[in-house]
Amino acid sequence: MAPTIAAPITNSSEITDFIISKGNGVKGLSEMGLKSLPKEYIQPLEERMSMSQIMPQESIPIIDMSSWEDDPNVAESICNAAVKWGFFQITNHGVPIEVLESVKEATHRFFGLPAEEKRKFLKENSPSNNVRFGTSFTPEAEKALEWKDYLSLFYVSEDEASALWPPVCRDQVLEYMKSSEAVIKRLLEALMKRLNVKEIDEMKESVLMGSKRINLNYYPTCPNPELTVGVGRHSDVSTLTILLQDDIGGLYVKGDNDRWIHVPPVSGSLVINVGDALQIMSNGRYKSIEHRVVANGSKNRISVPIFVNPRPCDMIGPFPEVLEGGEEAAYKQVLYSDYVKHFFSKAHDGKNTVEFAKI
Ligand code: OGA
Ligand code: NI
Repeated sequence: MAPTIAAPITNSSEITDFIISKGNGVKGLSEMGLKSLPKEYIQPLEERMSMSQIMPQESIPIIDMSSWEDDPNVAESICNAAVKWGFFQITNHGVPIEVLESVKEATHRFFGLPAEEKRKFLKENSPSNNVRFGTSFTPEAEKALEWKDYLSLFYVSEDEASALWPPVCRDQVLEYMKSSEAVIKRLLEALMKRLNVKEIDEMKESVLMGSKRINLNYYPTCPNPELTVGVGRHSDVSTLTILLQDDIGGLYVKGDNDRWIHVPPVSGSLVINVGDALQIMSNGRYKSIEHRVVANGSKNRISVPIFVNPRPCDMIGPFPEVLEGGEEAAYKQVLYSDYVKHFFSKAHDGKNTVEFAKI
């Protein structure tokens, strides 16, 4: 549908009004066909990515999970990857390809809705805090905006989701969440075993995966993609993140010497990364690695991360099993909701969030 814009947008308050308050997002801006990037999106030099920072020869592990049950090497590879890279891709993970395809289609359907429809899910209009349509990361706290729109869904219950989530994507997102449950449990079981945690009892289950947030991310085509970012440098605050990306590419993970490694789209795969909560609970054995998304000059990209989190009311800290041998705790006990609040109170700033829990 053609956007209904009478005149070009020229000043700052018009931009904010159009993108944020009117619910057009950067997608709306992109579709106006503007020739140059509005200044609000121009990132300082140190936040942009240059070719010289990329390590084209490196890649994160790709782990085939098909022989999970009989082959201990699979669990071994998962733990090694979580220690060394904090990031890996999995194939043959048991989530049906049709489920992945439907959730990608559902994402395009949601962002394809007219602004009037999406606007209903803006912070100030949404019937619930658990459903939020927005743009950038925390526009109020950012000096430069990020070239991304999103729908963020915090899962409470099937009933709540049925009542409140946008009908154009609700069922597909729920299905994706449900069918990824088994692989999430397997990954966590393997990772816990290496930490000497033999069994995931009710308390551990709550603190590892007691709540879930699913984001639908839309990164529209960007004029001057080299001047801005899709998502700035950050680490996730989750236990684990399960990310479905389409075939466009643009996600980079931090490697050695401040250089960046591309996560190439692998058809049918899921990208897994360790989040801060797991780094803290493992006392730093598993690494929550910084990552970022570049903007794209010719294509629209989507991604759908599931953030597997502690419950907001859980205290998180290094597990006693990890400290058994006399290892000193590097992190204190913090209330998970305080940790998350801290993350959202500032712009993306690399790995700084975790300082909040350091002793
Ligand atoms: C995120 C994230 C990566 C991507 O949403 O936290 O890192 O590829 N997304 O969209
Ligand atoms: Ni992330």
